[in-house]
Amino acid sequence: MSNGRDALRKLGSTGRALPSILSADFANLGGAVEPFLRAGCEILHVDVMDAHFVPNLTLGPPIVKSLRRHVPGVFLDTHLMVTSPLEYLERFARAGSDLCTVHVELGLSPETARAEADRVGVALGAAIKPGTPLEDAVRRWAPFVDLILIMSVEPGFGGQSFMPESLDRLRRTGEICTELGVSPILEVDGGIDAGTGPQVVAAGARWLVAGSAIFGAPDPLDAYHTIDRAAREA
Ligand code: DX5
Ligand code: ZN
Repeated sequence: MSNGRDALRKLGSTGRALPSILSADFANLGGAVEPFLRAGCEILHVDVMDAHFVPNLTLGPPIVKSLRRHVPGVFLDTHLMVTSPLEYLERFARAGSDLCTVHVELGLSPETARAEADRVGVALGAAIKPGTPLEDAVRRWAPFVDLILIMSVEPGFGGQSFMPESLDRLRRTGEICTELGVSPILEVDGGIDAGTGPQVVAAGARWLVAGSAIFGAPDPLDAYHTIDRAAREA
């Protein structure tokens, strides 16, 4: 098992675009991500959905394990849109996930989540849906996590439109973290493209997840570079 927190430290605090494999060809995942890795991409975003927490079903540890074999050096940022994430953390860690993000709406204890993430050797993120009251969630989770994910669409599907109110939520999350004296990575997920990318960066986001804007573009590598450049200009 890798140590996700060490791997995260090595990545540093640079802003980046994260291709979301949800929009890639699942029958050719290795081939689909390879051009990005050759272009210097170091992190991939992996969306796990259980048809229960969200109305969609995607992939589990076996796919992560296969992907890990094809891309040994890449950091796998695993977004768990599942009802019982802590029951699966060890399986994702063994499969090769470096960071696992759990949703705050599940009512889990951040202390317990942190302890389990440390036990199995992954970094930990907390994801917040668009409709979830922000203040309490950030205050409760920020001291225990390596990353906070502000969802800028309702989780479950790629290709949705960015919700502009996410900009204020990103800004407010940054302010609360500063107040608390903690500095988790601020990630944003949903509807990120060349237009919304610079806006979320200005609002404090550092990791920009993009699925359809990259894999659905006529030139995916060019789309990746455009969003990545915006992220690095922070
Ligand atoms: C949505 C997923 C996203 C998805 C984003 O629930 O969490 O990671 O891949 O897709 P786009 O970039 O197409 O909005
Ligand atoms: Zn995601």
